[in-house]
Amino acid sequence: MGESAKLVAGGNKELDLPILTGTVGPDVIDIRKLYAQTGMFTFDPGFTSTAACESALTYIDGDEGVLLHRGYPIGQLAEHSSFMEVSYLLLNNELPSKTELSDFSRTISRHTMLHEQLMSFYGGFRRDAHPMAIMCGVVGALSAFYHDSSDIADPQHRKISSHRLIAKMPTIAAAAYKYSVGQPFVYPDNSLSYTGNFLRMTFGVPAEPYEVNPIVERAMDRIFILHADHEQNASTSTVRLAGSSGANPFACIAAGIACLWGPAHGGANEAALNMLKEIGTPDKIPHYIARAKDKNDPFRLMGFGHRVYKNYDPRATVMQKTVREVFDSLKVSDPLFETALRLEELALSDPYFIEKKLFPNVDFYSGIILSAIGFPTTMFTALFALARTVGWVAQWNEMISDPNQKIGRPRQLYTGPTERDYLPLGKR
Ligand code: SDX
Repeated sequence: MGESAKLVAGGNKELDLPILTGTVGPDVIDIRKLYAQTGMFTFDPGFTSTAACESALTYIDGDEGVLLHRGYPIGQLAEHSSFMEVSYLLLNNELPSKTELSDFSRTISRHTMLHEQLMSFYGGFRRDAHPMAIMCGVVGALSAFYHDSSDIADPQHRKISSHRLIAKMPTIAAAAYKYSVGQPFVYPDNSLSYTGNFLRMTFGVPAEPYEVNPIVERAMDRIFILHADHEQNASTSTVRLAGSSGANPFACIAAGIACLWGPAHGGANEAALNMLKEIGTPDKIPHYIARAKDKNDPFRLMGFGHRVYKNYDPRATVMQKTVREVFDSLKVSDPLFETALRLEELALSDPYFIEKKLFPNVDFYSGIILSAIGFPTTMFTALFALARTVGWVAQWNEMISDPNQKIGRPRQLYTGPTERDYLPLGKR
């Protein structure tokens, strides 16, 4: 028996709770028998101190600002890898050989088209529908089209569904953009890379050839890598919880998209750029920093702070570097980048942010690059969802194949009325 944590519960009952150790990171106290042995629950709204599962996919050390995917640091993957390679790594635990990578990329490219009837779903939306509303609807609707891979107990079905989701997200996201600007859908061209195909479906038009800009393609691919997976964040936990009931993967990913949309989560990239636009010039920054510190003001610095990172988000470091590279290569600039840099500098020297360990996160700089590439802010979270789909499906597969997996069903601390008899209307 390994180490254990002693707990003296109500009535002086002493418990030995096993301590479990992973390969790296905090140990966990196994409380699975707590309720049976004490009649009590733990209480942890927001799961600030709760591990909901075992996972071998992604490790984050929030204090050190470390992010590893299957052990590989995000900085090295962003520098040397590709989104297809990172997708293979997340799904298969190891980096692919040359042949494995080309086979995987080809498999993914063979699933990029949507069922033609699914394209007519878009016509039911208003042209000004938020792309995330469209993504929720269309991705959920995929489960109405793929009955041949719906047996989640069959690893082969799970594999096909995973490949379909990874492959179709760019087509779905690009079509949401085309629909919003009133341009015709552009079908996939599988002679292009995963990311090049997405750029052409988004910005290409049938009226003329579209040349993928290699600098933009590389930057976009790196942005996808930075968003691929991130441990048990809110949307991944949503996918896992939905999947724990046996729901089909398309419905689970649609649930993840819905959760990601919130401004406290994936919606922060859109909110961060809107905030920078509202701030405008650096001279206005002190006013907004004061608002962010004011307990009576709901305003927060969007793209700042993180539940896990109490240090600089390593993805934000790569994102800021990518802004500089893209701007230098494309000979473009954006005054909002200067505003963002100055905002970071002033916030990180302010005691409020220092004490609360609030640093820029992945969403702080991403909007500046995406805007420079040509995306409207409403597309930012849809791009996050596109990239995070591989993380969601990898986590979903890991959960389904976990022999200890069971339906997630948290308990509560009940503070409502105790039992009372019904009062007829005439007596109220
Ligand atoms: C993502 O979990 C993940 O891994 C998510 C993600 C992923 O890849 O999946 O990394 C992606 O969602 C990044 C986060 C994007 N969200 C934002 O940028 C929105 C702004 N940030 C916050 O709302 C906040 O920092 C959260 C939601 C990200 C984290 O919130 P927590 O961990 O619940 O922390 P908290 O809200 O309790 O804040 C702690 C303190 C509070 O002050 P006190 O009540 O202790 O006095 O810090 C303050 C907060 O008021 N605070 C901020 C702040 N963030 C926290 N104050 C001003 N501006 C902010 N941005």
